[in-house]
Amino acid sequence: MCGIVGAVAQRAVSGILLEGLRRLEYRGYDSAGLAVFEGEQIHRLRRAGKVENLTHAEQETPLKGHSGIAHTRWATHGKPTENNAHPHMSGDDLAIVHNGIIENFEPLKHQLQQDGFVFTSDTDTEVIAHLVARAVNQGKNLQEAFLETVSQLEGAFALGVLHKDYPDQILASRKGSPLVVGIGIGENFIASDQMALLQVTDRFIYLEEGDFVQVTPDEVMIWDANLEIVDRPVKKFEHSLSAADKGEFRHFMMKEIYEQPEVVKATLQGRISDKHLLEQAFGSEAASVFDQTQHVQIIACGTSFHAGLVAKYWLEDLAGIPCSIEVASEYRYRKHVIPANTLFVTISQSGETADTLAALRAVKDKVLASLTVCNVPGSSLVRESDLCLMTNAGPEIGVASTKAFTTQLVALLMLTVALARRHGLTEQQETDIVEALHKLPGLLLAAVKLDKEIEILSQDFAEKNHSLFLGRGPLYPVAMEGALKLKEISYIHAEAYAAGELKHGPLALVDKEMPVVAVAPNNALLDKLKANLQEVKARGGELFVFAGADHVKPEDGLKVEQMPDVPEILEPIVYTIPLQLLSYHVAVLKGTDVDQPRNLAKSVTVE
Ligand code: G6P
Repeated sequence: MCGIVGAVAQRAVSGILLEGLRRLEYRGYDSAGLAVFEGEQIHRLRRAGKVENLTHAEQETPLKGHSGIAHTRWATHGKPTENNAHPHMSGDDLAIVHNGIIENFEPLKHQLQQDGFVFTSDTDTEVIAHLVARAVNQGKNLQEAFLETVSQLEGAFALGVLHKDYPDQILASRKGSPLVVGIGIGENFIASDQMALLQVTDRFIYLEEGDFVQVTPDEVMIWDANLEIVDRPVKKFEHSLSAADKGEFRHFMMKEIYEQPEVVKATLQGRISDKHLLEQAFGSEAASVFDQTQHVQIIACGTSFHAGLVAKYWLEDLAGIPCSIEVASEYRYRKHVIPANTLFVTISQSGETADTLAALRAVKDKVLASLTVCNVPGSSLVRESDLCLMTNAGPEIGVASTKAFTTQLVALLMLTVALARRHGLTEQQETDIVEALHKLPGLLLAAVKLDKEIEILSQDFAEKNHSLFLGRGPLYPVAMEGALKLKEISYIHAEAYAAGELKHGPLALVDKEMPVVAVAPNNALLDKLKANLQEVKARGGELFVFAGADHVKPEDGLKVEQMPDVPEILEPIVYTIPLQLLSYHVAVLKGTDVDQPRNLAKSVTVE
């Protein structure tokens, strides 16, 4: 999704802006640009494609100015061309960068065209540039013009503005899209994500909804939505810089797969004792909310939605609490019945996914309480939910989510235990789960060590164009996640089915060109699943089965990858790893852009 970086300093800022954009690449984008004030004018450079193209352009015409704004664009209105790339300008005076969507841009554009403004792009953003310019032309100062403009915009946005008559300041504002201010010494910054600025500062102000900010090298002034001057706290960002480096790994995705034992440990830390869940981890008000909870509604998107599907199995099985789950983009736009005492749970790596956030806002006042399982401290979902349980996965850079998913599952299992305690889970059952959780990092490590074997397996897969993924029970959503991973990064068509559904349609597709992947741990459903595998085999299908030691025998057309023995409750978490590894190796063999797959964005901050 789009990214914003801005800097006002006593040194040249182009390097800072370009490095910031590079650090935002993980969010997904298709063009990039910057505008720098130098020699009494604003110079703009934009390129379609990668930040690297923009960097080359800047090397050819170096910009040495001390203030500037920059952007990576993920196309929403208009194609990913240079003309549509940000910053957008009104004449030569003013440049603007924008994340989000302006819903009422058409009437505004029409009005501006009638006033003689000429549009050079297909974007909604250009409207903002001309609105500010028109207000300045009418005699307003830049602040007044910017505020007047913002008040006319409907939709979601984060904005940064640079004007040639105000060369050492950037104005910025947020409504519905994240924006942070980075605090330096004699220099200050803005960005849509603190990751963009970690090379220059670790001190940040997280702007609130409706905030408006004026940033100069020596000062940051913030006004809230009521235009009152406010003092927002400066927070130190705790993650280490190395999180944004690939280290010894070829791709961030692989680094993040390997990090799972460690980040799962970090997610468990301080939240379980030897035998018990430490419920305080959910916050001081959690206990009374859990006491009253009679229904759980989970809302999420993408990989996070799959984590929620697993949680539904757990919650209904262990806690006996009815649990509904739906993707946010559907839920937010339909009428729904909310049962009494509903705990509304959102799951999100970024905490900024527009649909998930909108769903929360739509029902916040109608539910018992909201709880988010989230990976980014200070994100919108964390700030706007009553309770939160952070997944301590650290920054996830690969667009295809890996460590966020497994840590979400860990958090959701802890939530299940907290609720199940109140609904008949015995102390012994709790202890069994907690003891299993203590073993989880070691089991994940054992699964990650299958890497080389899975790399070999992937060679038989890379030439295929279609595939099926099968699982039963809570392993069905794991199969869905495996199929999503493969599609996302290798572009191989992959569908997941609950294995019992095979004969109701997908079996018609099975032949030797259709590999079938099955997750088949040694649980009560294994015999049923084996019968499904035979149905595939009988039709000449090629099977790749991930199974517990010696429980499924390899045979002609049936390859078996032996998994470590895993307590049943942990199967969905551990069996995710080989599917991540399979997708990764297939993608590498196919030569795709593993960390930034085509057309996808890491953080979807527009609907
Ligand atoms: C995008 C990402 C996915 C992610 C989904 C939900 O589509 O590419 O990896 O699962 O958004 O994001 P969230 O941050 O809410 O988990």
